[in-house]
Amino acid sequence: MQLLSSRGSSIPQLLLAGLALSNPGLAIPVEDSPRQYLLAGLELPPKYSKKTKSPYNPDYRDPFDRPVDSIGEKLDPLPYRNGLGASVLGPWNWERSRQSPDLVRPPSTDHGDMKNMRWSFADSHVRIEEQEGGWTRQTTVRELGSSVDLASVNMRLDKGVIRELHWHKEAEWAYVLDGEVRITAIDYEGGNFIDDLKTGDLWYFPSGVPHSLQGLGENGTEFLLIFDDGAFSEESTFILSDWLAHTPKSVISKNFNLAPEVFEHLPKNEKYIFQGSYPGSLKDEQPTGKNVKKSKYNFSHRMLEQEPKITSGGEVRITDSKNFPISKTVAAAHVTIQPGAIREMHWHPNADEWNFFLKGRARVTIFAAQGTARTFDYIQGDVGIVPRNMGHFVENIGDEPIEMLEVFKADEFRDFSLFQWMGETPKKLVVDHLFQDDPKNGEIFWNKVKNAEKDEVTLPDPEKGMGSDGAREL
Ligand SMILES: *[C@@H]1O[C@H](CO)[C@@H](O)[C@H](O)[C@H]1NC(C)=O
Ligand SMILES: *[C@@H]1O[C@H](CO)[C@@H](O)[C@H](O)[C@H]1NC(C)=O
Repeated sequence: MQLLSSRGSSIPQLLLAGLALSNPGLAIPVEDSPRQYLLAGLELPPKYSKKTKSPYNPDYRDPFDRPVDSIGEKLDPLPYRNGLGASVLGPWNWERSRQSPDLVRPPSTDHGDMKNMRWSFADSHVRIEEQEGGWTRQTTVRELGSSVDLASVNMRLDKGVIRELHWHKEAEWAYVLDGEVRITAIDYEGGNFIDDLKTGDLWYFPSGVPHSLQGLGENGTEFLLIFDDGAFSEESTFILSDWLAHTPKSVISKNFNLAPEVFEHLPKNEKYIFQGSYPGSLKDEQPTGKNVKKSKYNFSHRMLEQEPKITSGGEVRITDSKNFPISKTVAAAHVTIQPGAIREMHWHPNADEWNFFLKGRARVTIFAAQGTARTFDYIQGDVGIVPRNMGHFVENIGDEPIEMLEVFKADEFRDFSLFQWMGETPKKLVVDHLFQDDPKNGEIFWNKVKNAEKDEVTLPDPEKGMGSDGAREL
């Protein structure tokens, strides 16, 4: 097919004219997009002049594999790389390709086979069912096979709506995405806990701890739950109403030492998510029975109120059992990456990384040893996995900051920085490894890394030609 490669030549226009004669309804591009022009073999109009430099054509050369922001630039990736590849003839899901340009045209450094490391919550089943004012959807090992350490649930509770009193064998860590939420729990010693949380706050309930959640404020809340087992299912938690619905009334009667008639109207099925009465203040709702005692543990934490570490290209907040003592099985970092910046090349020695993208557009290459590397792209609502010890980076390829969570099934956040490692290794060793045939550049490299300290999110100097303008079209 000539259509994709011979833009502006007269052959496709003739073809188009032929099509127009035989089927006038189909021939004229109905959608005014660069792809339509490209597919029809037409010259792009001046308003798309930037797109005439589209990197997705057979003549484009980029030996450095620079990123392309296909969403921001409204480009449809095509499988051409440095003169290799070919056009697309068959059916193709252009919307999805735009979200994963580095699967369509992987960097030339990608090699070998790797499990899938990306899932969009948009592909998760939303559970609505009988629920008033709420919904849930989950990403577990069933959706994303590489998500073995952790599973996640995205939940929405409108004003006053309750996620029923329940417990489960997995520990639960949560990040409030929006709005306000009241949480209640009791600890192993029978101490009670109630707190109100807002955007950027966390909670953590250890395995088996019973708890409830309720949306507060005008619009209630939405949050992200993380469970310390990838096989967790939100469908299989231990729910108060479910238990009582499946216990003989005579037993319930004995247990609470009340006549069985008292329990005549108990719910017949689990309630799970339902509209509750709007609660009063924390003080008003505090149980006051004579044996009630307050928990000596704190199940909540204000992550976004933490003083961030300011790096050259963004901010990092780390929350683990050092500053949130109850959170023994989940450690996390909240990271912002400014446009042009990169979460530096690094790895985590103690756990798989589970990412959630709150904002922005990212490119991540995962290095799995044995010459294997694969690049994935992420946008808001995406989940990413980087298995333990695999080298990686997170590059901001868009024009807005990236905001993301890195979550680990671990008590402590740990990472190794490549930059720092190089600077703390004897010069001769470093230069012998990487610059044996090129001592001049070895010197330049050493002078850069010798004073290195960890800069988790690095903003490179644009003068060094790291932008995308260095690539060229022949
Ligand atoms: C609640 O939602 C409405 C509609 O989206 C919005 O206009 C309003 O600002 C929200 N209120 C709060 C407190 O966020
Ligand atoms: C828990 O700790 C946070 C600080 O992260 C504090 O703001 C909150 O009041 C504490 N909650 C309780 C119930 O002690």
